[in-house]
Parts: sequence; structure tokens; C-alpha cells
Amino acid sequence: MKAIILSGGKGTRLRPLTYTGAKQLVPVANKPILWYGIESIVAAGVTDIGIIISPETGEEVKTKTGNGDRFGANITYILQDKPAGLAHAVKVARPFLGDSPFVMYLGDNLIQNELGGFLTQFKESQIDALIMLRPVPNPSAFGVAQIDDQGRVIHLVEKPKVPPSNLALVGIYFFAPTIHDAIDRIQPSPRGELEITDAIQNLINHQQQVEARQIEGWWLDTGKKDDLLEANQIVLDTCLQSSVLGEVDAKSQISGRVQIGARSKLINCTVRGPVVIGEDCHLENCFIGPYSSVDHQVTLIEADLEHSVILRGASIIGIQQRIVDSVIGQRAQLKVAPKRPKALRFMIGDDSQIELA
Ligand code: TTP
Repeated sequence: MKAIILSGGKGTRLRPLTYTGAKQLVPVANKPILWYGIESIVAAGVTDIGIIISPETGEEVKTKTGNGDRFGANITYILQDKPAGLAHAVKVARPFLGDSPFVMYLGDNLIQNELGGFLTQFKESQIDALIMLRPVPNPSAFGVAQIDDQGRVIHLVEKPKVPPSNLALVGIYFFAPTIHDAIDRIQPSPRGELEITDAIQNLINHQQQVEARQIEGWWLDTGKKDDLLEANQIVLDTCLQSSVLGEVDAKSQISGRVQIGARSKLINCTVRGPVVIGEDCHLENCFIGPYSSVDHQVTLIEADLEHSVILRGASIIGIQQRIVDSVIGQRAQLKVAPKRPKALRFMIGDDSQIELA
């Protein structure tokens, strides 16, 4: 059994963060989203992993993630020269996959369920594909499945205007090597991509066995800002362990589950967990409220935030109002003059969103 994780793509929905970096490396609770997928695959016992990368962000993914040693895996990087669809990524990975069955994992997805049980079911059942489904309130935004009483998939459709059910395809699939023939038989969709839903539908049309299981735990597709904040909240809620390695002065108050990384300094701050603060941060006269993730090398002075994600190297100084539901990009600087400012001065990247609410 092998695995591929798709970490190419365009990431248009997470701009401007994805102008300068891979969306799969955006951190959730200070850990790149992609790494949760790798850990989950390794926990299920699959260690031979291919990661699909794009020419734009591939080097960054490679440098940060490495050869797999840190995960107990063997990682091979596979370049997809253009984001021509999920089935196209499988095609590009064909030499790596050979005739092995495999699990395919979308690198911007997170699920709570462990994969081991599904993997065993897939191996024992000798079917051609096993897909994961989850009921959603807005199926038109996803690939949607229609299933019969025995859990067999009858029909799949990508982002339907009139959805045949409320069951969305979660970004995790198990395939036998027969999927490669199905991919060879399909054509690009109207949006110009080789769709994995079309390939699975093609298996069904050829009377091959496609089954589905509904997942019970949470599933997060971190493609957009609010999904990212939700993923951050859920992961902090369910996975964060308290540990304080940095320095916290006597005037600071820490309550709830809080992680503070090595060499970080907190002076006169109130932190209410769950909160994670990375390494080498400087925080002074701040309130950090629940569900905040502050990445490494961040400076926060006279700042008040909650339910927000601050990326590496950013600094926020002298903002009186509470910052909520916000994502602040790497090295971004937000600064307000000590007296009430008479003017606002901006240098804001393309596609940024600023809301003075
Ligand atoms: P999507 O989120 O569907 O596509 P995208 O990354 O292009 O994002 P956006 O819609 O914001 O422009 O992709 C799901 C995952 O699969 C994601 O981790 C990127 C990856 N992917 C590839 O590796 N190759 C591809 O050809 C495509 C379309 C996606």
C-alpha cells in the first residue's frame, strides 16, 4: 500500500497568503496543514508516501517537510507541472505508484477520524475504490455522491447546481490500480481539469466496485480563511497540551491550556487558552484570547486578540481594538501611533482584506 498527498494546486481561495507560499504549509495550531495528513497516513501504517508539488511552491514544501525521517516515512516528491486536476495528479504519480493500491489525500484537508479502520476495510473488501462522505449543509460547493442502501455509490457529480444528496466527498480516497485505466478513459471537464469524480464515475459505469463510508468526526477543508480559523479552533480544542518553555513574568496571567515555545518572552500579558505561542516571540502588555495561534518570531506589543492566526515573523503594535477572526500573514506589520492616529498609512498586498468594523 502506498499513499499520495496532493500539495500542488493554485490556492486561489487563500490569497494573498498563497502568493508567497504553499497553502498546505499554512499552519493550523502552528503546524503545517500538510503534516497532519502525513501523520495520519503514517499512523495507519502506510510509510511510502508521494507528495505532489507544483513548480511554484514545491521547493518550499520539500525544504520544510524533508525526506520523511521526522515522520517515520519515506517521502518521494512528484512534480506536477500544472494544476490540471486531481486525476491528473494521479496520472503524474503513476510511475511512483506502479501497480500498488493507494490512499490519496488532499493536502489541505484535515479529518478527525483515524484512517486505519478504513484502510483495513478497503484491503479486505477487494473493491476498486472506497470514498469517504460527510453530510454538509451546502453540497453544491463540493463533489456530491448518491448511494444505495448497501453503501454502494451510484452517481457522483462535481459541484452540482441541484445536488442529488447532501453527502460531500471528503478529500481522502482509497484506490486499486484499476483507477489508472479509468483516468485514461476520461476527458478534461468544462473547467479544463481531469476530475477524480469523473474517474470514479467511470469505474462505476464499467461495473467496478465503488463503496463509500460516512465519517463521523470533523472534516475541514482549509481552502478559505474562515475554514482555516475553524480548523485552528477545532485543533486547539481537541489536541493542544499545555507546556511553557518560554519566560513568563510575574505580572502575566495564564489560564486554560496554553503552549509557549522556547525563548519566547511574555511581559505583563493575559493569556486565556486554548492558545499556542511559538518560539522566539516577544509579547508585552497583550491580551491573547481563546483560539489564537501565534507562530514563531512574532512581536505583539499593546495588542489584544482572539480567535486569530498570526503567521511567522508578523508584528502587531499598539492596536487598541480587539483583533478577532483574523489571519495575519508572514512578516506583516500592523502598527498604530501611541496617540489617536490622525491618518492611516497602508502598504497592503494584492487581494488583502482589511475591515475596520
Ligand atoms: P483544490 O483546493 O481543489 O484546488 P486549488 O489548490 O487549486 O485551490 P483553489 O480552489 O483555492 O484555487 O485542491 C485540493 C488539493 O489538491 C490542494 O491541496 C491542492 C491539490 N491539487 C494538486 O495537487 N493538483 C491539482 O491539479 C489540483 C487541482 C489540486
